[in-house]
Amino acid sequence: MTTIEITRASDVLPEEEVVALQPIIDDINRLKRERNAIVAAHNYMTPDIYHLAADITGDSLALANLALETEADVIVLAGVHFMAETAKLINPAKTVLIPDLEAGCSLADGITGEDVRRLRAEHPGIPVVTYVNTSAEVKAESDITCTSSNAVAVVESLGVDRVIFTPDQYLGRWVATQTDVDVILWEGSCMVHERFTGAEISDYKRDMGEISVIAHPECPPDVLAQADYVGSTSGMIEWVQLHQPSQVMMITECSMADNVAESTPDTQYVRPCNLCPHMKRITLENIRTSLASLTHRIEIPPDVAGRARQAVTRMLEVGRKD
Ligand code: 13P
Ligand code: SF4
Repeated sequence: MTTIEITRASDVLPEEEVVALQPIIDDINRLKRERNAIVAAHNYMTPDIYHLAADITGDSLALANLALETEADVIVLAGVHFMAETAKLINPAKTVLIPDLEAGCSLADGITGEDVRRLRAEHPGIPVVTYVNTSAEVKAESDITCTSSNAVAVVESLGVDRVIFTPDQYLGRWVATQTDVDVILWEGSCMVHERFTGAEISDYKRDMGEISVIAHPECPPDVLAQADYVGSTSGMIEWVQLHQPSQVMMITECSMADNVAESTPDTQYVRPCNLCPHMKRITLENIRTSLASLTHRIEIPPDVAGRARQAVTRMLEVGRKD
């Protein structure tokens, strides 16, 4: 029998917790003013960061666009390393900080620039589309990057019959179901989303009766086949806010349900969810330290940065079309 846990808005950030956190939030706000800094937080941050410390929240594409638009001198990226690197690529004049250098990503760890060069040699003339969840070195070897919210539009923007898609095999497979373009896959995966199974989702559906299922495209195909909506983290939040289902399973990282619960008090969020150990390295404490000591600065070697920037800029020109 599946264990069922339900998240309600009132459970997420109780008033006593907000009062207890006020001193550290005051420190963070003071440091932000002194540094002309902002905290840009990914949707997987814990609710204390998401609701109390962030100036902007969003998916990978929104965080990349923010880096283009902000007038702040310093961006503290409350997310993982590739997100901070992307912000630095887009806006090299800004100081971009990540509060914990170990906040990585299993997808980014699963491919190197050398791997992309080998793929190109195996498939001459086929353009390489690379998910932003990669190092700058891998982006530098790619024609264009994409995020989960614009992957189909990016693939179709190239006007070709075939693309090489790296590194997420599941996002690549999902893209292939949405377009006539042939997709050559790399076998990378996200350690958080690959753990969900179609059988687990069926069990929940059987036990819970009427329930909406929305899933991130990094999930395996048998999970996505059961979803009412597949999209980026921001796409998932927008879907729940628009449809206000009475019960929903968000098949993704656990903080998503916590973060959206406040704006959707009539919706119950039913687990399963999995934690990303990389995202969970970011805390209010290390955000405060990051602002106080201006660490850890993201620096990218100029030869890599120039080529990686081209791939990211080309993506931003395609825009978000999910
Ligand atoms: P999004 O761009 O959808 O926020 O995804 C980023 C990510 O790392 C999901 O695991
Ligand atoms: Fe990477 Fe997966 Fe964590 Fe997203 S959830 S940062 S893809 S390991």
